[in-house]
Amino acid sequence: MEPLFSLSTFSEILPIWSHQLWPGRTSPIESVSCIKSNSEIDISIMSYSPVFAKITSENRILAVSSIHQTSFSEFRLRGNWVSEQHRGQGYGKSVINQLMAAIPFKTGDCVWTMARLHNIDFYKKIGFREDYRTEKFEFGPHYVMKRILS
Ligand SMILES: CC(C)(COP(=O)(O)OP(=O)(O)OC[C@H]1O[C@@H](n2cnc3c(N)ncnc32)[C@H](O)[C@@H]1OP(=O)(O)O)[C@@H](O)C(=O)NCCC(=O)NCCS
Repeated sequence: MEPLFSLSTFSEILPIWSHQLWPGRTSPIESVSCIKSNSEIDISIMSYSPVFAKITSENRILAVSSIHQTSFSEFRLRGNWVSEQHRGQGYGKSVINQLMAAIPFKTGDCVWTMARLHNIDFYKKIGFREDYRTEKFEFGPHYVMKRILS
């Protein structure tokens, strides 16, 4: 069966985030993160609702992603993951592009992500540009990367 994109839920994505993407993570995994694009913490971000997405094949999750606002005009793309056996086949790009297509962005909105250094070129291929490097967070160092929507 053809792999299928659909929206998902935090409870469905959480096992993948905790066992595959962030194994051994010390900070709790919440459905949204209170980090702003400048790396400062802002608990008002908790009031935004996240959107989750997955690509599945025969009831198996091949890829996941999520997005949530971090301010009026900024959205964080978070928790992007593709199963090890399925990497390099376009699923990462596909789940992100289809998730972003489901969000009613306005012109000028900024989507940002915290990229592990070895993934910078992946994010460049989907339109993100490096903003700054940070060593403040687990699984880093990271580059904050941004894409301004036209
Ligand atoms: C990063 C990740 C989500 C990419 O997903 P993927 O399905 O392997 O990527 P895709 O096949 O959609 O790749 C899209 C393009 O980016 C390229 N690419 C993918 N990963 C890359 C990487 N790490 N470095 C450079 N280029 C990369 C692909 O070659 C492809 O190029 P093309 O369009 O010219 O053919 C996946 O490798 C992954 O889950 N890694 C482990 C978890 C992780 O690190 N998540 C991200 C945290 S920042």
